[in-house]
Amino acid sequence: MTRASCIPGRKSVREKGKVMISDMYDKSLKAFLKPIRGYLADKDVTEIMINGPEDVWIEKNGRLFKTTAKFTPEGVEAAGRNMAQYVGRVIDDERPRLDARLPDGSRIHVVLPPIARKGCTISIRKFFPGKLTIKQLIDFKSLTPEWARFIDACVITKQNIVVSGGTGSGKTTLLNVVSSLIPNDERILTIEDSAELQLTQDHLVPFESRPPDKHGRGGVNMAHLLHSALRLRPDRIVIGEVRGGEAFDLMQSMNTGHSGSMCTVHANSPTETCRRIESLCLMSDVELPMVAIRAQVAAALNVIICCARFHDGSRRLTHISEVLPLNEKGDYRTQDLFAFTVTGKDEEGRIQGYHAPTGILPTFLPKLQAYGFPEMDESFFDPATYGLEKPPVVAYQEFKVRWTPRLEGGEEQWEPKEMEPDKKNRLEEALQEVLEERDLVPPPMAEEPAVEPDSSAAEKKEEKSEERDSGEEPQAENNDKSGKPRPKIPVAKEGESSKKARSSYVRQLLGNSKTGQAKRPKRMPLGVRTPRRGQASKGDHDQE
Ligand SMILES: Nc1ncnc2c1ncn2[C@@H]1O[C@H](COP(=O)(O)OP(=O)(O)OP(=O)(O)O)[C@@H](O)[C@H]1O
Ligand SMILES: [Mg+2]
Repeated sequence: MTRASCIPGRKSVREKGKVMISDMYDKSLKAFLKPIRGYLADKDVTEIMINGPEDVWIEKNGRLFKTTAKFTPEGVEAAGRNMAQYVGRVIDDERPRLDARLPDGSRIHVVLPPIARKGCTISIRKFFPGKLTIKQLIDFKSLTPEWARFIDACVITKQNIVVSGGTGSGKTTLLNVVSSLIPNDERILTIEDSAELQLTQDHLVPFESRPPDKHGRGGVNMAHLLHSALRLRPDRIVIGEVRGGEAFDLMQSMNTGHSGSMCTVHANSPTETCRRIESLCLMSDVELPMVAIRAQVAAALNVIICCARFHDGSRRLTHISEVLPLNEKGDYRTQDLFAFTVTGKDEEGRIQGYHAPTGILPTFLPKLQAYGFPEMDESFFDPATYGLEKPPVVAYQEFKVRWTPRLEGGEEQWEPKEMEPDKKNRLEEALQEVLEERDLVPPPMAEEPAVEPDSSAAEKKEEKSEERDSGEEPQAENNDKSGKPRPKIPVAKEGESSKKARSSYVRQLLGNSKTGQAKRPKRMPLGVRTPRRGQASKGDHDQE
């Protein structure tokens, strides 16, 4: 460390130099990208595609448009090279491709001519700091609350989840949303080629791979990072996109105690997803017979969520499927639990369709109920519950599919009946719950105010202490909204740590006592966050 950098607020010559260089690149990059500057600033433009100097396209509100923007041939190549310099990477005749992320988070890919036959080709996927939420995806009609609730249940019960789909179908966006459902008290390791995930949990360890330098040194790939992640005591491993031999290590880790892991993969249907992962496993150095790899893949994966980009530019979830064991011939089997069915197009060419459960019950249904999702009974998976028709699905003959009783054997046994109002209310509440922001940090302990704001409050306090002394239970104030008495705030007994006393209080609050049935903590309404763990414990220390 130089002497100047030891003095707070002063930068060393080297640091000053770095700032100047980055400023210089920033300015020159802006100058090189002048023809598309307007699109870079436009919030509705999500992607800019430069296919040589005179062919520039943008994606706006999910649809592609050709623009009139034009570069000079030298200008566009200079922009590509400048981007490479900006991120400290090399792009030249020997290495004419560049995959990188700009400091603002935008994802870029550059291919130089003559490989790019139309001239330097650049794609810029703009980064938006405010990530899409489940609620927004529901508003966009990408999924419905019952799909969201089921995904939530899969995350909580630690199913291994793969998000699959084609290019730009919204896989990363969905993985972001799905992984944001991971409880806040779990240690999450994320591994990505270019950092796109925006998780907000407290205990997050993000890794990003690095390509080798111009001498071919210093490269750290996804497999290396997964290797490290497995030694860092993860509760969950989230991999941005599996695209190489690391798939095999991931399957092994999912099979050996790291359940609840998630990743995305390029594939168009649930069974194709299994096959794609299988072929990625074959890219690893480990040589295993095909049948062993298949068995690993089928055993490792639990749930596949497929998404697709439709002609009208919309992105939707198209399937939530369960992976079943291999059949006798050793082929993959999946069963669709939820499916999106296209019914047609409207006058403006927008895709019309409906999201519905298929009537098939997941094999892990008892686990869902045991983990505190009592509304997930047979009627939850019956499309008639939501006033929908059974979507056309193919069920395997050789596998004993469990249908909801009304759809036994895939055929309607009786007309749907009206749901009892009580049950309907409970279901609605459960569906609403997933729209609320998850924060499983227990609410902070109620504190007695240190200074009474006025004398009447002081009098009330005195009254309260008299009540306590007289052994009488205080009335309504200690009851919750439903009128049930709240558990008392604990005072640590002699020899008992205050932490132990607090945790037993939280258990009582959540109804999670050893004897009682496990209940999930109530989430805070949307937009209202309970303080983060650090803040809560700070307050507790202060109290102590
Ligand atoms: N449900 C959605 N509704 C509307 N727009 C969406 C939705 N999901 C994603 N998008 C938008 O689509 C674009 C592509 O999304 P995303 O990066 O998640 O796709 P991807 O499948 O991961 O792409 P790639 O295969 O290139 O990695 C982004 O601009 C994103 O904001
Ligand atoms: Mg992606």
